[in-house]
Amino acid sequence: MTININLKRVVDDSYPIHIGPLPEITYEGKVAVLTNPKVAGLHLQTLLSRLKAKEVYIITIPDGEQYKNWESIEFVLERMFDHRLNRHSLLIAFGGGVIGDMGGFSASLYNRGIDFLQIPTTLLSQVDASVGGKTGINNRFGKNLIGAFHQPRAVYIDPAFLATLPSREFGAGVAEIVKMAVTFNAPFFEWLEQNDLREGDNLAYAIQKAVETKAGVVEKDEKEHGLRAALNYGHTFGHVIENETRYSTYLHGESVAIGMVMANDLACETGLMSREEAARIKAVLARYDLPLSYPIGDVERFYQAFFLDKKSADSTVTFILPKSIGSVEITDTVDANTVKKTLSKFAGRAS
Ligand SMILES: NC(=O)c1ccc[n+]([C@@H]2O[C@H](COP(=O)([O-])OP(=O)(O)OC[C@H]3O[C@@H](n4cnc5c(N)ncnc54)[C@H](O)[C@@H]3O)[C@@H](O)[C@H]2O)c1
Ligand SMILES: [Zn+2]
Repeated sequence: MTININLKRVVDDSYPIHIGPLPEITYEGKVAVLTNPKVAGLHLQTLLSRLKAKEVYIITIPDGEQYKNWESIEFVLERMFDHRLNRHSLLIAFGGGVIGDMGGFSASLYNRGIDFLQIPTTLLSQVDASVGGKTGINNRFGKNLIGAFHQPRAVYIDPAFLATLPSREFGAGVAEIVKMAVTFNAPFFEWLEQNDLREGDNLAYAIQKAVETKAGVVEKDEKEHGLRAALNYGHTFGHVIENETRYSTYLHGESVAIGMVMANDLACETGLMSREEAARIKAVLARYDLPLSYPIGDVERFYQAFFLDKKSADSTVTFILPKSIGSVEITDTVDANTVKKTLSKFAGRAS
């Protein structure tokens, strides 16, 4: 005998992404703000001055990717219980992508899921991590392997928070902006070639374009069945670099920059993209002092490491290769020799 349980439902998870000065946020219930000591020291007062809620609790976890783990989630959930948050309470993730990913994940777990807001304070989190509802943590098997899709109720992007961001962190965010442009938005890439993000209102415009681009992709493929995977451009290579250097040499966005250069080289090698377009992408990245090369010590080991990446199903490696600026191909049919030929060009090459 079979009993069917029919749960077909229409869920509206739409939400606004505000870009501009942080407006007043009012909330009827209890609010917990998740942040870290660095962000709190720099910007918590600003947030609290805009927040009108019944009760506000601050939950602080240590700063750093190494704390994006179960222990921190457990700690955050415990504090939420201490403060007697309920299903109608709100969590605000206030910080970079690490806080955003953990805030979202905690919100997805507490009482089987409560609402949360993203208030990203790094460029990378403003243009990428805060949008799209991917939340999660790392474990010893890899990065972001545990998590949930849990969309925020709203995202508040205030570029003013970026005034205190170190320049390397700025560059790392630019790498993800370039990623959005190369994968999906050729006119935006041309704009990036002609404008410096450190001048005038250019940054706010670039954030808007990057977010629009990502939002468009997420709307079409929230759970990454296809299209959204294109946003892993540069990441297949980048993740191996991050792993080999034990997350201590490059920031995530920096290894993505190198990864995009490598992906472009592979795209040129397979005849997909022209060398001229690859050079244009490199030139934009170079302007923000991003590293563009990585001395691969052992090509075979580097190649094998692709298979440990979770985005590579079983025995194939998925590469995101530009066909031209603004259009990419998701492929798992590049033959090993071609990939290794590209990798060998980086062998021993310093950045
Ligand atoms: N969910 C997604 O779709 C998605 C997408 C991309 C990246 N991510 C995740 O995001 C994380 C990386 O995010 P990140 O680059 O923001 O790193 P991060 O959160 O570690 O922030 C970088 C550093 O900047 C500090 N900081 C934050 N705001 C600041 C400010 N305004 N002024 C000065 N310092 C500030 C942080 O405390 C930290 O030391 C990774 O864990 C990655 O997996 C998630
Ligand atoms: Zn990334």
